[in-house]
Amino acid sequence: MHWAKTQSRARFNLATSGVGTFPLAELVCAPGELESDGANPYGYAPLQQAIARKCGVDPDCVVAAAGTSMANHLAMAALIDPGDEVLIERPAYELIVSTALYLGAAVKRFPRTEESGYALDPGEIRRAITPKTKLIVVTNLHNPSSVLTPDSVLREIGDMARGVGAYVLVDEVYLDAVYQNTPQTAYRLGPEFIVTNSLTKVYGLSELRCGWILAHPELARAMWRLNDLFGVNAARPAELLGVAAFQQIDRIRERARQIVEADRALLDEFLAGQPALSATRTGFGTTAFVRLRTGDVERFLMRLRTDYVTSVAPGRFFEMPSHFRIGMGVNSAMFGEGLRRLGLTLST
Ligand SMILES: Cc1ncc(COP(=O)(O)O)c(C=O)c1O
Repeated sequence: MHWAKTQSRARFNLATSGVGTFPLAELVCAPGELESDGANPYGYAPLQQAIARKCGVDPDCVVAAAGTSMANHLAMAALIDPGDEVLIERPAYELIVSTALYLGAAVKRFPRTEESGYALDPGEIRRAITPKTKLIVVTNLHNPSSVLTPDSVLREIGDMARGVGAYVLVDEVYLDAVYQNTPQTAYRLGPEFIVTNSLTKVYGLSELRCGWILAHPELARAMWRLNDLFGVNAARPAELLGVAAFQQIDRIRERARQIVEADRALLDEFLAGQPALSATRTGFGTTAFVRLRTGDVERFLMRLRTDYVTSVAPGRFFEMPSHFRIGMGVNSAMFGEGLRRLGLTLST
């Protein structure tokens, strides 16, 4: 995250993970609502309802949080005690692993291999799970590969978790970047499923920090109480803008979709002409994970940045140092030129 905040930017920035910023000025909210009478101490009711409606769940299952980041932290803090065994996919979004470690979990990893196209393999979880396992954490879509896990596989993992009294935390921050036949949230698959999400990556509304957890009501109440130690309340202006965003959520997503899909077409064409690169391709998501077949990736990325002012996310942040991640959905002219420069770096 520190690298993303301080070093990822470049003139041709392909180191992104979410779509470009949606203009907040296009979100209309009533200034009168800014005053709070303190009537909603555990969640601003209109926002709770908007999130619940979008996810097809009851508002009692929704815990609002500052982005998926805080949602993940809060969910894990509520679900695990120090020393508890937590299984996390590899490669993973680094902050999921470090949050679990920060909470004192005994973290075990299970692989999603490049050979199997980063598919989530229940067999790997079966090998890793023990009676001491308290939580299994996956991303869907997978960061970095954007691979989608079908409900049938998630159900199998849920069955295994239930067998040992564990929960499954599914981070769905990229799921709505499946633009056709968008899957429903895994929350509805059973009480062992806890889901986190936000309007950050697919909707370009990172600034709002509008995130949430879906958990069954008893657990949701425990999370709200735990949040009294963390954030207590959200910023009211952000809550209002969040409600305004949900009022035009389809338009916001559609705007982003057009850019993501244009970028994906450019990427497909680029990768088809680059035998030096190997990539797991998906028809959805805002990122692609690419391997440099030969050579030193760090040196390659250094040349890409210094000679061609272009950045991508290094695979070392995903414990995959031969790889790098390309982000789509910000600006297709910039994206196309960034790819061209990637090609030039490969050929010189
Ligand atoms: C899998 C995953 N979860 C959570 C986050 C953080 O999301 P947010 O900006 O909503 O806190 C990221 C950001 O890259 C991510 O990749």
